[in-house]
Amino acid sequence: MNADAQKKAAAEAAIAHLPRNGVIGVGTGSTVNYFIDALAPLRDQIPAAVSSSEASTERLKRIGITVEDLNSVAEIKVYVDGADEINKYLQMIKGGGGALTREKIIAAVSKQFICIADQSKLVGTLGEFPLPVEVIPMARSYVARQLVKLGGRPVYREGVVTDNGNVILDVHGLRIDEPLTLEEKLNNIVGVVTNGLFAHRAADLLLLGGPEGVQEMRR
Ligand code: A5P
Repeated sequence: MNADAQKKAAAEAAIAHLPRNGVIGVGTGSTVNYFIDALAPLRDQIPAAVSSSEASTERLKRIGITVEDLNSVAEIKVYVDGADEINKYLQMIKGGGGALTREKIIAAVSKQFICIADQSKLVGTLGEFPLPVEVIPMARSYVARQLVKLGGRPVYREGVVTDNGNVILDVHGLRIDEPLTLEEKLNNIVGVVTNGLFAHRAADLLLLGGPEGVQEMRR
């Protein structure tokens, strides 16, 4: 199975973990697109979804699933999303698609976070994938200087404006030995909206597509 087939297999495996008749959270990315496609036959059993991006919202609506504003939803039982990197503690780097802030909000609200990914996403130490940081536009240069002080090499994702109207700095060269501490430090920089480290809110279940099929890993 190549990477795409692994993503598809992981995405389809998530269907068996969905609640009966509950609102679901839906993330963003190519793996999630496979998940949304797999939801189509179940549209009558899913009262509504909350989505982490305009792109996923459109795709969900196209298959006939109602998308609700998070503020009008009392509970999300399960949130399904991909990752750019994930370690054995199910801590992740996310935000390659630029949707990190909404993803983190939905992850915080949801009872269970199911990560769907192909095998290439599982790493020993997080940080080879550049860590996305969403920043208020006027604070971009200041935040970049603070990121350099933390040992990173921030690169402005030119031409990208997030769904929230902000910009993204991708931080290269970080070897993230202490994800919990780094996540807090980054959040403390004034002007940072969110960073793509999901260490405090790690996934609860990883469905990892590999050459042999889909493996389940839990915390
Ligand atoms: C979106 O902002 C990201 O957090 C995605 O979850 C991540 O980039 C995974 O994307 P793929 O499923 O396309 O690899």
